[in-house]
Amino acid sequence: MEMSRRIETADGLIIASPEYNYSMPGTLKNAIDWVSRMKPMPLRGKHGLLLAASSTVAGGIRGLWALRVPLEGLGVTLYPDMFALAQATQALDERGELRDPELRERLEKMVTGYLRMGAKLSAS
Ligand SMILES: Cc1cc2nc3c(=O)[nH]c(=O)nc-3n(C[C@H](O)[C@H](O)[C@H](O)COP(=O)(O)O)c2cc1C
Repeated sequence: MEMSRRIETADGLIIASPEYNYSMPGTLKNAIDWVSRMKPMPLRGKHGLLLAASSTVAGGIRGLWALRVPLEGLGVTLYPDMFALAQATQALDERGELRDPELRERLEKMVTGYLRMGAKLSAS
């Protein structure tokens, strides 16, 4: 399975997912379920960062909380902070960059923090 092979060879996982009905999309859960049956199971021992974007004010954060459950259960170490972009239809400029400098800084700090965590985990 291609997804499984790609997870196996990846240093880490950055997953950006929409929120469907206050949870993760069924297609993503189905993909996780398929990967979880592989032997050896490639998610175990990986580290990851979760991101979402939505046109709503919640930004998809509830979907990301739901997504933590199967991923952590399967042995993925997730970065504690998650980035959920609210009102995403207005949040990006014509180049696809975040308009709000505070949000841009928050995202940059989060990605940097995640990369640091990943480097520490990979070294240990
Ligand atoms: C079945 C379904 C349920 C959705 N539920 C939510 C939701 O609970 N919260 C939310 O912020 N967006 C929800 N959305 C909107 C998606 O997060 C997303 O913004 C939208 O579907 C546009 O992305 P797409 O073109 O990839 O589907 C839902 C979309 C679908 C199709």
